[in-house]
Amino acid sequence: MPVEWAGSGPELLVVIDRDGGGGLRSQLEDQLRDAIRSGRLAVGERLPSSRELARALTLSRGLVQDAYAQLQAEGYLSSRPGSATRVAAVARSAMPTPPAAGGEKSGQIQFIADFRHGVPDLRLAPREDWAWAVREVCRTAPNSAFDYGDPIGWPSAREVIAAYLRRVRAIDATADQVVICAGMAQALGLVLRVLAASGAGTLAFEDPGAGVSMTEQATAAGMTAIPIPVDADGLDVPALDRTPARVVIVTPAHQWPTGVVLTGPRRQELIAWARRRGGVILEDDYDAEFRYDRDPVGSLQGLAPDCVVSMGTVSKSLSPALRLGWLVAPRRLAGALAESKRIADRGSPAIDQLALATLIESGRYDRHLRRARTEYAARRETLLAALGPGLRVTGLAAGFHAVLHLSAGTDEADLIAAARQRGVGLYGMAGMHHAVRPSGPQLVLGFGDTPRHAIETGIAAIADLLGISAVGSRPS
Ligand SMILES: Cc1ncc(COP(=O)(O)O)c(C=O)c1O
Repeated sequence: MPVEWAGSGPELLVVIDRDGGGGLRSQLEDQLRDAIRSGRLAVGERLPSSRELARALTLSRGLVQDAYAQLQAEGYLSSRPGSATRVAAVARSAMPTPPAAGGEKSGQIQFIADFRHGVPDLRLAPREDWAWAVREVCRTAPNSAFDYGDPIGWPSAREVIAAYLRRVRAIDATADQVVICAGMAQALGLVLRVLAASGAGTLAFEDPGAGVSMTEQATAAGMTAIPIPVDADGLDVPALDRTPARVVIVTPAHQWPTGVVLTGPRRQELIAWARRRGGVILEDDYDAEFRYDRDPVGSLQGLAPDCVVSMGTVSKSLSPALRLGWLVAPRRLAGALAESKRIADRGSPAIDQLALATLIESGRYDRHLRRARTEYAARRETLLAALGPGLRVTGLAAGFHAVLHLSAGTDEADLIAAARQRGVGLYGMAGMHHAVRPSGPQLVLGFGDTPRHAIETGIAAIADLLGISAVGSRPS
């Protein structure tokens, strides 16, 4: 006997048929998705609470909550703690109606599909878990937690982070080597200042790479930044060896932006360079949390704790807004780093440090990562399924960006401009190259904050602009 929910309007919205085919949860999800796509549920419209809908449809509340969470992860719904679940603004992109050209609104572009990179899915930010952790800290922490603390971080938080990194990243360090910072950005600034004060004048960085921010950071520390080419195995170590640099920054787990994983032999070569040169390797442990087709590759720091400074962040795993990260450094740098951190800000906010430690210790951090990894893996599959045989993609072993290789005759900038006219945000590789010339036109496709339906819409638009048809390619 079908059970119905008529929604706020006159039309029948959801019919759950227990005798028909299909699971109850997928019936609910599919019908809500269709209602949003067709516009029967309008953007901003309030959905009933999970309790109300569960009662109306005689379903369990948990099932309705799971369906809402799924549609939220896909970008159809939005919700905030304490307020109603509503149809998300971005869900417009799922509708068949084409966007207004450009779609610019009060300085902000309304993309139907935006492949911007460097951000996780902000809808997945674990608001409830974070609020719970902060409450726990406020309830249980001693009064001294509200005083000025050790500038390098609250000791128990450093213990928890060190243990976590030993377990998950095979880091070889104890809590006294950890400095809790305002994200990887501050970690890098502190390390460069300390190394510059000890005489290092040059920072080598990966090309292509985040050269603009590396140059800014190096300049702020009084250093010069120089680009070193990256090939299919990672950084070109002989090229590094030909420069006077004693400090190099790399992204070994998932090179930004090519997505290459630094190979084992290349790791050994790089470490040998550092030991020969008396140099320091700065490991930006970027995207390490999200690996799909292999076991996580351990940190470089674990192989050479004497000459590697490893830097991590919650910007991808939880949210960039938390401005929370850490560095793990050889003990010989500990005193100077602590002094540098004290001068910078007297220490990162203790309550946030303790909240992160509480999340990790409670298992909620790992649980959140498992959920997020499942969603990003599904998006990665959506991306692959949407790409046509004429579209080659690389760099998908980890993280949430990939490189789309375009044919030699394609003009990267023209394609980006044409896609923008259709409401699709694309970003080229050209701007990420410094001295090394790009091997051809390429796009960096971020899918961290791009729901699955938007990925399909965006790839279809790219294929159409390129005059290519679809059906699944495989990454290399
Ligand atoms: C290469 C790279 N590493 C690390 C980060 C994270 O930096 P932060 O922890 O300061 O947010 C970013 C941010 O986009 C990045 O592009």
